Amino acid sequence: MRKSHIQDIKLAQMGRLRMEWAAREMPVLRHIQKRFAAEKPLKGVRIAACLHVTSETANLMVALKEGGAQVTLCASNPLSTQDDIAATLVRHQGLAVYAIKGEDKKTYYRHIASALDCRPQITMDDGADLVSTLHERRGPLLEVLGGTEETTTGVIRLRAMEKANTLKYPIVAVNDAKTKHFFDNRYGTGQSTIDGILRSTNILLAGKTVVIAGYGWCGRGVATRARGMGARVLVTEVEPLRALEAKMDGFEVAPMQQAARQGDLFITLTGDVAVLDVGHFKAMKDGAIISNSGHFNVEINLVGLKKLSRKVRTVRTFVEEYTLRGGKKLFVLGEGRLINLAAAEGHPASVMDMSFANQALAAEYILKNGRQFSRKVYPVPEEIDAEIARLKLKSMGIAIDALTLQQKKYLNSWEEGT
Ligand code: ADE
Repeated sequence: MRKSHIQDIKLAQMGRLRMEWAAREMPVLRHIQKRFAAEKPLKGVRIAACLHVTSETANLMVALKEGGAQVTLCASNPLSTQDDIAATLVRHQGLAVYAIKGEDKKTYYRHIASALDCRPQITMDDGADLVSTLHERRGPLLEVLGGTEETTTGVIRLRAMEKANTLKYPIVAVNDAKTKHFFDNRYGTGQSTIDGILRSTNILLAGKTVVIAGYGWCGRGVATRARGMGARVLVTEVEPLRALEAKMDGFEVAPMQQAARQGDLFITLTGDVAVLDVGHFKAMKDGAIISNSGHFNVEINLVGLKKLSRKVRTVRTFVEEYTLRGGKKLFVLGEGRLINLAAAEGHPASVMDMSFANQALAAEYILKNGRQFSRKVYPVPEEIDAEIARLKLKSMGIAIDALTLQQKKYLNSWEEGT
């Protein structure tokens, strides 16, 4: 067994069963895994992956391993690790894993450092903590060919590094592939966020006022699902175009200070800091529930909330009750960490299938082309995106039409208008 730091190796059998369950819904990744097993395109390549340690991630790890890679995995969030999955990856797949659900901040960064000790040639990140930690180490990072980034927040951070000229190696922005964010961010976050909120609170959504902060792909996914369950949905935004979209999609739109007075449940998905701040907590109703599904817990000013409070206690698993000085109670879910992974199991396997197909193919792409790249953030090639969409449709038994020659000619011409 490679050196690891996990909660309990005895959970391995349970993890193995859950991993198999997820695999049933990941036909595209399975297809890639079969090819990888035959061709070994990643032979001998050291990959450090900093991802949510879930049953879906486990299947990606196996696909990379089958492709010949030597994979080391650490958690991309202190609360998202599934300990049984970490255990099966160590016991049954021979991976080195550094991840424990509920680890403190120090352990979280120690785990990232341990993963980096494998001297990765490829990094696979979700939120850019692995890349930023690697950049903080001294040295030119000569061995690193490139990396991939899974999430919007991570891509934003990496683009900022590119702009500041501090990015030391190329990154492929998996998040920006259409087969990733159209589906994972929208339908994945949409369903799993509601799942996490319901598992932790068991509240009825019908008849509630739900305030969604941010109408990006994730926000619109959650807004749509909350409406589908009978909630009145109010959206807050800072970008006029997105606010307009939200309005025309049929949602109410208001500034947070106004929404704060009305919400029964708040969900932040903006990627920014202090979206829910002291002024908002003061305006909220007694009993309001506060949660975050953005990558980092900075969206809710928990320090400010604590300062307003005279008492904090845990009243259910993943539910903390803050009693403010005037007696009002506000409830924070999952310590403000992404609720879909803290209190539920993250996105369902069927969408992660496409996200992780992108990850696997992006790793292969980096290996083939990384040496020609500069220190920039690159998109996933369109052919990879199109291939994943084609494979997913095929796995669902869905056939679609093809353009006729006449139609192709028409689309390529400008003379014919009528
Ligand atoms: N991000 C969101 N859901 C996830 C999942 N199920 N596995 C890995 N990363 C995720």
